[in-house]
Amino acid sequence: MKLPKQVRVVEVGPRDGLQNEPGTALPAQLKANLIDRLAACGLQHIEAAAFVHPKWVPQMANSSQVLQLITRHQHVNYSALTPNMQGLQRALQAEMDEVAVFGAASESFSQHNTNCSIAEGLQRFQPVVKTAHANGLRVRGYVSVVIDCPYEGAVAPQKVAEVSDALMQMGCYEVSLGDTIGTATPGRLQDMLDAVTQYVPTTYLAGHCHDTYGQALANIYAMLQAGVSCFDASVAGLGGCPYAHGASGNVATEDLVYLLHGLGIHTGVQLDRLIKVGQDISADLGRCNGSKVGSL
Ligand code: HMG
Ligand code: MG
Repeated sequence: MKLPKQVRVVEVGPRDGLQNEPGTALPAQLKANLIDRLAACGLQHIEAAAFVHPKWVPQMANSSQVLQLITRHQHVNYSALTPNMQGLQRALQAEMDEVAVFGAASESFSQHNTNCSIAEGLQRFQPVVKTAHANGLRVRGYVSVVIDCPYEGAVAPQKVAEVSDALMQMGCYEVSLGDTIGTATPGRLQDMLDAVTQYVPTTYLAGHCHDTYGQALANIYAMLQAGVSCFDASVAGLGGCPYAHGASGNVATEDLVYLLHGLGIHTGVQLDRLIKVGQDISADLGRCNGSKVGSL
């Protein structure tokens, strides 16, 4: 069995993690400190913000302010979600390095999450990708509900493949496959990957595993064996999805890094520092630490 020698970890805690916190937006300074401390752990890609409608996701309302407060590091790629041109304009003003468009593989999730059909969403992304590229920004694509949808149940792998293909054709450099409600198990994940890789090579795929059913690390291991070498994770396992009731956070970054280092895979992340960051943000938010490694 051949595993990748190196894995790129995309830290999504400041976005996917914090977007689900109840109430109004957390103080911008607290978010900026978290982002700066994550950068100091050696994480080279941090999804720092979302330029979405503030009524839909109040926690992300102060994204522009957060970006003003962080200390930028050359080695870090700071990215943000941009569902449409308005989001992209805000991202350009905030001088993001990269943006992400996010589609879904089920019609109901697309409607709940972005108030449009899958096809309308893809249509909206076209000018976003084009304008981002014209401004020198790379664009990442997400596909949500790649295994199960909270409204429709099991999702056909072929649908995931078609949406992933459309995002790549549009110019995304990578597609992150979202197990939004964390119901995947390795066999089903492999079936989905078999369909997607008919269109998109594994080198352009990333895993985005929520850990609702405790399967994220097993699923990530299966994806590693299939040749995927980029994974999203959230410090202290923060988060969930506001449009997928009951979904818990992404795999904790600490637990992912522990697994990867144990397999001899290089990440560039300093685990001891990261554990401290996870403990501190959990304490700040009055939450249990969602990382097993960070709770020892
Ligand atoms: P809409 O209501 O259909 O938008 O929302 P619209 O174009 O009809 O505009 C309506 C109003 O929204 C207008 O304001 C616009 O200006 C405003 P009004 O005239 O009524 O005052 N508006 C905006 N304001 C700020 N920023 C914007 C923006 N766009 C329009 N970008 C929209 C469509 C997509 C904007 C909305 O549905 C939305 O914001 N959705 C975001 C949902 C979201 O953030 N979900 C969570 C992130 S995705 C996720 O977690 C999954 C992922 O982690 C992968 C996985 O786990 O599967 C990525
Ligand atoms: Mg997510």
